[in-house]
Amino acid sequence: MEIGLAFCRGILANNPAAVSLLLALLLHRASGLPATHPLRPAVDEINESGPFIGLVMAYSAESDALRSSGEFIPSNHLPWLDLYGRRFHIGSIRDVNVIHVMSGRRRLNAGVTVQILLDIFSVRGIVHYGTTGSANDSMSFGDVSIPKYVAFTGSWTWMKFDSETKMANMLSFAAYNAPAEGKNLLSSVVFKSEDLFVDGKPMNEVFWLQMESQWYEIAKQLKVELQRCANESFCLPDDPKMVFGLKASTADVFVDNAAYRQFLFNEFGVSTVDQESAAVVQTAMASGIPVIVFRGVSDLAGGEATWSSSFLGDLACINALKAAVEFIGILGRRKTSSSS
Ligand SMILES: *[C@@H]1O[C@H](CO)[C@@H](O)[C@H](O)[C@H]1NC(C)=O
Ligand SMILES: *[C@@H]1O[C@H](CO)[C@@H](O)[C@H](O)[C@H]1NC(C)=O
Ligand SMILES: *[C@@H]1O[C@H](CO)[C@@H](O)[C@H](O)[C@H]1NC(C)=O
Repeated sequence: MEIGLAFCRGILANNPAAVSLLLALLLHRASGLPATHPLRPAVDEINESGPFIGLVMAYSAESDALRSSGEFIPSNHLPWLDLYGRRFHIGSIRDVNVIHVMSGRRRLNAGVTVQILLDIFSVRGIVHYGTTGSANDSMSFGDVSIPKYVAFTGSWTWMKFDSETKMANMLSFAAYNAPAEGKNLLSSVVFKSEDLFVDGKPMNEVFWLQMESQWYEIAKQLKVELQRCANESFCLPDDPKMVFGLKASTADVFVDNAAYRQFLFNEFGVSTVDQESAAVVQTAMASGIPVIVFRGVSDLAGGEATWSSSFLGDLACINALKAAVEFIGILGRRKTSSSS
């Protein structure tokens, strides 16, 4: 080992070409795409006009809302790039460089997509928007939640039948037997923490991920006029509102069940449920990149009493997008004022 090192030093000291070769190797190792990748020149070129905000949404209705808003101005040079099956759109929103990408639904897609953004492009933060189910009766259709805490609630220890254990973070199925409580062969599940890896820190088990505080504080200044009407004849009874500081939960589960919705609210204080936010936040946190989430309430997660909510999805997308766009606008103004 030492002999090898001394040998290397000897070579490097007398050989400028070897030094640059070594540097080139190091640089190539540090970048996200191999030097021989056919898209490498394109990515290098895009990177030169960065850094960008990575704008991530999960499914087509959410990305359609962005398209029809006209807020995204595609780059006239390289408007998009296809990588790993996803299309990365290059351009700007309110004069801020943005790359937007549809991740696909659920946790793996969301996490992978954010990691690709961070590895391949020059990205200074992740803005995530989309729809959400509400688990909190004080929230209404069209409201936009900017959560302060997000948890992954899809990982459980499934307990043995007749297990006497009673613990926090536990869902006992017997308590939900209908028409009366009793025994249930499904026993109970105990919700588990996540293994959180963050650059420069030892691995940590956490249940709640906390939003990056500087971006969260910036978001609190937002004043957004949210949309109240789905069309000329259908309007919500009240003006939708922006709600800050609540708890969100993510799982690879679409919640359409009133009892489970209530359990999440009572046990964890969860106000909104979705399938991606925790993954987006956890992936960004690992690299120490700022991240913020905007989720518009499109349904009551199985708590709908009166009307079907499917048509409210568009309104929820639009309102979450409006908040995200205003936030990106603020980032742009802050950058301009701090650099001038
Ligand atoms: C683009 O820039 C980012 C940030 O500087 C870097 O992590 C990434 O590797 C670069 N991509 C390529 C292909 O060089
Ligand atoms: C439920 O939502 C309302 C806002 O609509 C909020 O004020 C309240 O704190 C939320 N409840 C919990 C437990 O987070
Ligand atoms: C307005 O939206 C409601 C709810 O989606 C729908 O039932 C109705 O047909 C729409 N009206 C028009 C004029 O599009």
